[in-house]
Amino acid sequence: MALVNSKKMFEQAYKNGYAIGAFNVNNMEIVQGITEACKEENAPVILQVSKGARAYANHTYLVKLVEAAVKECPEIPIVLHLDHGPDFETCKSCIDGGFTSVMIDGSHLPFEENIALTKKVVDYAHERGVTVEGELGTLAGIEDDVKVEHGAESYTKPEEVIEFVTRTGVDSLAIAIGTSHGAYKFKPEQCTRNEEGILVPPALRFDILEEVSKKLPGFPIVLHGSSSVPQDYVKMVNDNGGKMPDAIGVPEEQLRKAAELSVCKINIDSDLRLAMTGTIRQFFNEKPDKFDPREYLKPARANIKEIVRHKLKNVLGCAGKADECK
Ligand code: G3H
Ligand code: 13P
Ligand code: ZN
Repeated sequence: MALVNSKKMFEQAYKNGYAIGAFNVNNMEIVQGITEACKEENAPVILQVSKGARAYANHTYLVKLVEAAVKECPEIPIVLHLDHGPDFETCKSCIDGGFTSVMIDGSHLPFEENIALTKKVVDYAHERGVTVEGELGTLAGIEDDVKVEHGAESYTKPEEVIEFVTRTGVDSLAIAIGTSHGAYKFKPEQCTRNEEGILVPPALRFDILEEVSKKLPGFPIVLHGSSSVPQDYVKMVNDNGGKMPDAIGVPEEQLRKAAELSVCKINIDSDLRLAMTGTIRQFFNEKPDKFDPREYLKPARANIKEIVRHKLKNVLGCAGKADECK
């Protein structure tokens, strides 16, 4: 089937208590790893492209890679989504250039400016059958060139969501409830330590999620910054020359709970980066004489596939749901 927008996926995900995985793609191996897992698990999927990904790999290459995945995986619905669209022009360029969904990220703007910008994108997108994600509240962490320090983030204000959604016409809303971008989501001083000395992060603000959902019944909510930063991959990186002390993510049980509530899209990038980097570091460490990129990209791609499979089955709950999302 051809690329789809996110409408049907979110309707089904909301109704049936699961979330669609939105995985960031930057090159062929990442696209293949994700979509091979989704094909084998019969899962719908959102492949998302950031401004940084477009700058790195080029819009055309990324679209063609995703089109190749669509051809190779005709059984599953796939959305091609712009992640953190920074302005109208970037959203327009993606809409005109084959994307089926875009995010306009006006979360750093004053409320009225965020509404005006988001509405402008929605008007353009909806005329062309493209769905739009907006955002209220800011996450800590780094995305493209915007860095928000821990402490400068702000939770979504539930009292703003009805007005934002009604006036903009967005199809989904990203909210800030304590997740953040990257592999260092919580400062060690925000956490406790378990018996093995592993950091245990504070809980997400489910009270805000519940208040938002009460105000917007049936409306799909999006969680950014939802990598769990698996400690086996952090160890693999650190045991093989890397240096990622106290990297920590969102516990998977909390994401599972969010997926059962109104969260219909869960964004995951850092976990795939960790799987790829850990695998390649270990390969180089164990086989210093090798220099054929295919030899180290192959296991890296295989581990991306396995971590995505794990997310689909055990975290998102969307394995086996491809048919109902078509
Ligand atoms: O939210 C950010 C995503 O992880 C994309 O990261 O901007 O480095 O491509 P990037
Ligand atoms: P992570 O850094 O937690 O993977 O978040 C990715 C994301 O939100 C992309 O928009
Ligand atoms: Zn994000």
